[in-house]
Amino acid sequence: MRNHEVDFNYFSQEDLLDSGCFDMQRIMDVVEQTLLAFEKGSIMFPEKIVQIFDPHTQERINCLPATMLDEKICGMKWVSVFPDNPRKYDLQNLCAIFVLSEIEHGFPVAVMDGTLASNMRVGAVGAVAAKYLAKKDAQTIGFIGAGEQAKMHLLAMKVARPSLKICRVSALSKAEEHEFIAQLSPVLPDMQFIPTKGDAKSAMEDADILVTATSAQAPLLKADWVKPGAFYSHVGGWEDEYAVVTQSDKIVCDDWKTVMHRTQTLSRMYKEGLLGSHDLHADLYELVAGDKPGRESEQERIYFNAVGLSYLDVAIALTMYRKARDAGVGKSLALQHKMIFEHPDIAKKIRL
Ligand SMILES: NC(=O)c1ccc[n+]([C@@H]2O[C@H](COP(=O)([O-])OP(=O)(O)OC[C@H]3O[C@@H](n4cnc5c(N)ncnc54)[C@H](O)[C@@H]3O)[C@@H](O)[C@H]2O)c1
Repeated sequence: MRNHEVDFNYFSQEDLLDSGCFDMQRIMDVVEQTLLAFEKGSIMFPEKIVQIFDPHTQERINCLPATMLDEKICGMKWVSVFPDNPRKYDLQNLCAIFVLSEIEHGFPVAVMDGTLASNMRVGAVGAVAAKYLAKKDAQTIGFIGAGEQAKMHLLAMKVARPSLKICRVSALSKAEEHEFIAQLSPVLPDMQFIPTKGDAKSAMEDADILVTATSAQAPLLKADWVKPGAFYSHVGGWEDEYAVVTQSDKIVCDDWKTVMHRTQTLSRMYKEGLLGSHDLHADLYELVAGDKPGRESEQERIYFNAVGLSYLDVAIALTMYRKARDAGVGKSLALQHKMIFEHPDIAKKIRL
């Protein structure tokens, strides 16, 4: 008789951290490989399902599935975004969980924290873009926003450009700038951190790499502050004035067809007829594949915008699952011991 036990591994965020999953170089490599795999057709990527509970705050929970056909793993990210959480409740904005199933029998193999994978993906994608688009000897990085995405971006950018040695940061509150520095300076002991007391101009002016990762919807970054040769990674919604886009020599997206329908600066300009597909230099995979050039001169200003491709999150979650499983962390949980009618006392448990 067949064994009808179904079990799966459960990994908390702490399990993932303890087993070495916070490995930014590894995740950047996964991003590059997965972008190419998608173009080869080896990933199923259906539409996401979005449920917005408050149109004003954009509080939402999204369901984002994808299948890695070569690895025979189907995964789903279930992610909440509650933008007011940090300000109102001192809670994180985003919380995610993954379910991974094998596709030979269709059974779950893992349920795991997804916030680590999701946030690492955002930083890793920005840094893969920087690998092709930032100046080789970039030394100074500036931030508007000092939240979770900004922190991941700094770590990832340092992997892409180890030459970075000065980090200037501006946020809504001084406390956030200091927390950013207190949390990241032990990881980056050779980095000089400069808080700016919310002065975005002094954080961004003359930086080689600029990052905006805010919950604002406003033209915070000014074109005048972006020097020739700078690389700009735009992470949040509307965060820069239109002239930042129009003065850029190259515009690159993670996926322009996705970006054009959202609410970022590029998307707004597209909807207002101020930007067209012909203005885009490339999607990120084209740089990774070598189909289009990255940076071609020391003087180019280059603009990068990623809105997030959740098949990358599923690929990252799969990498983390394997690492954590091999390290023997986490818990094995039983979903069922038998099929429903095999339970010897099932007759007593049925209510009609
Ligand atoms: N592109 C992607 O793939 C992706 C993925 C996840 C999140 N995001 C977006 O990234 C942004 C940041 O997310 P997070 O998780 O880091 O949020 P967070 O709440 O942790 O941090 C937001 C930061 O924005 C700063 N900020 C807000 N308004 C500001 C203003 N007017 N001037 C200066 N700083 C301001 C805050 O001080 C804070 O440091 C959000 O818009 C989020 O939706 C993008």
